[in-house]
Amino acid sequence: MAQLAVGVDIGGTGIKGAIVDVESGALTSDRIKKATPEGGKPDDIAEVVVEIINELGMTNDEPIGICFPAVVKDGRTMSAANVSKKWIGFPAEDLFEKRLGRQIHFVNDADAAGFAEQQFGAAKGVDGLVIMTTLGTGIGTALINDGVLIVNAELGHIEIDGVDYETKASYAAKERDDLSWKHWAKRLQKYYSHLEAYLSPELFVVGGGISKQHEEFLPLLDLQAKIIPATLRNNAGIIGAAKLAADSKE
Ligand code: BGC
Repeated sequence: MAQLAVGVDIGGTGIKGAIVDVESGALTSDRIKKATPEGGKPDDIAEVVVEIINELGMTNDEPIGICFPAVVKDGRTMSAANVSKKWIGFPAEDLFEKRLGRQIHFVNDADAAGFAEQQFGAAKGVDGLVIMTTLGTGIGTALINDGVLIVNAELGHIEIDGVDYETKASYAAKERDDLSWKHWAKRLQKYYSHLEAYLSPELFVVGGGISKQHEEFLPLLDLQAKIIPATLRNNAGIIGAAKLAADSKE
């Protein structure tokens, strides 16, 4: 029988969850998606997460992994770039465990997505350093070296030209500044060239909803490393959170 786990991906606009076969990375249930409550405060988000997990209807104590857009240390959320500031220093894992009456595994969203891509997706089997980047409201990053996840890399926030560069190169910045693909690609070029200069990865994987349209911008980038679109798309966070939760129980 397949080994199953639940994955939940909390984002600024939506919270989604599904049951995952952690051997293949496939979803074995429908994906349930609900809007992130206005203001994104901890109790309100926890309520939606509980609803989703109940609707998924697991009964056998399967591992539960939850991912969130912040630095996560010892179950606490330590940053809040695009979410309510109430999360800074907040014991998030405790809150979810209390509300669910169950242990959970709690991780950064880009870490979950990057791990999923390395295990089951675009970076499967790639040795050396893989850098996952998710281009959305912010820029999420994950470092995976020889299959080992190095948690909490926050390379979306590297400073270039005196600014936190996720405010320039995220997909939200493209929308806000109404940039053409070409103009956005110029900012992305600057961003990825910096990452490359510091870390010399084997491979960049680009995720986030906009990666569906990778043909519009990835061919405009010139880097030493290969740069390819993520393949698990919007399910990467769910799959990675579930897989990390299952692995942590072994
Ligand atoms: C946060 C990261 C998160 C990323 C993607 C950034 O603003 O600092 O923790 O992974 O957004 O959601």
